Amino acid sequence: MDAFLIQGPSPLKGEVEIDGAKNAALPILFASLMVEGEVVLQNIPKVQDVLTTRALFKKLGIPCKSNKKEFVLDPRKLTKVVAPYELVKQMRASILCLGPLLARYGEAKVSFPGGCTIGSRPINWHIDGLTRLGAEITVKDGFVEAKAKKLTGASFRFPKKTVTGTANVLCAAVLASGKTCLSNVAREPEIQDLCHFLVTMGARISGIGTATLEIQGVKHLRSGAYRVMDDRLEWGTFAIAAAATQGDVVIKSHLNGGITRLLIKKLREAGATISVDTANQCTHVTRLGSLKHVNITTRPYPGFPTDLQAPWMALMTQAKGISHIKEHIFENRFMHVAELSRLGAHIDIHGVNEAVVRGAPNTLTGAEIMASDLRASAALVIAALCAKGETRIRRIYHLDRGYQGMETKLQKLGASVKRIEAPI
Ligand code: EPZ
Repeated sequence: MDAFLIQGPSPLKGEVEIDGAKNAALPILFASLMVEGEVVLQNIPKVQDVLTTRALFKKLGIPCKSNKKEFVLDPRKLTKVVAPYELVKQMRASILCLGPLLARYGEAKVSFPGGCTIGSRPINWHIDGLTRLGAEITVKDGFVEAKAKKLTGASFRFPKKTVTGTANVLCAAVLASGKTCLSNVAREPEIQDLCHFLVTMGARISGIGTATLEIQGVKHLRSGAYRVMDDRLEWGTFAIAAAATQGDVVIKSHLNGGITRLLIKKLREAGATISVDTANQCTHVTRLGSLKHVNITTRPYPGFPTDLQAPWMALMTQAKGISHIKEHIFENRFMHVAELSRLGAHIDIHGVNEAVVRGAPNTLTGAEIMASDLRASAALVIAALCAKGETRIRRIYHLDRGYQGMETKLQKLGASVKRIEAPI
């Protein structure tokens, strides 16, 4: 099992290019299952979750070809509608095939995704929304089984915002007969990207980017090509890493300014200097002076993303003073606290959803630590880059699920990062 060996402190300096967004690529890949023809997707990141999706497609009988950043699949070759346990347990996002398979083939059987380290993560609202459109859903022998002779448009309000829940019900509505109105939907840029993909393939969706989506069902989705958006979370991770390490980094991406606005505001409050060059699609992040403590509370988009909560905590270990970090999306997303503490960070957990960081710049020291989930891994990498001496981060496979070539990018930015094989 791979580990990272990082020598710190290591200010990041240079240029980094952002890859495609995992959390947009996955729903778009699964939505492609509804298309009646070849689908060509560009800017699909080379990350483990995409490889797992490819393995799942193979199980469904669908051949995929990929070269560089292009991914080509022909969903007409599908022979099965079952997502088995061994793949769903590797990637919870496999649940994203439920809505598309049901809509296109009238049935789907997906191993029930259990909880994970960041929370219990139920799928009751996916089930309620699909049921509202006419599906019959049972949970039996560890599988969610959905069937529908016909899906019919209806109104459904999500009790709370759910990203993959929105994706599943939206996909089903696209091929349902008549009109569907989904309210209180997730407005995440990745959901907007999914909508734009579906529209490119022939879907009729209005209200994209708002909390209410109106979908006029269509009979078929046609073959076509689409470029997946760049990864705002990878962008955020490098921007935070640049600020944390007193670096000087130019981040190149096609992301529009609105998507990164809140993070830029927070980073500026913390003392980073950020200049956005829209014409050249790059952002320059530097930090000369000391870092100030800045509180954050995670919220659905356009709020502060839960996926950057852990990296932000790593940043705040380098700030002067006390910062409060509140996690409002998942109930157990502080697994990184114990590992950051092993590097010398002073963090207390108050109640169930608040972490209090007593920042002390330049006091972290290298140690052996362990990644617990994808974004926690990114936080540990940032902390290790700030820490004096050598840090060994084990279980780096969590990072590989969602960041393409992280060590190569860090090395290009001057960091001493090595991937090594290490016992579990
Ligand atoms: C998506 O997960 C992302 N995954 C997560 O990214 C991200 O952290 C999360 O959205 C929040 O932004 C993908 O896009 C593949 P939710 P998802 O349904 O859709 C509760 C990463 O690191 N809920 O929006 O599974 C749920 O328990 C990952 O890239 C229900 O109670 O998250 C949570 O508390 C991790 N019932 C909240 O809603 C439901 O039916 C939001 O979860 C659905 C959700």
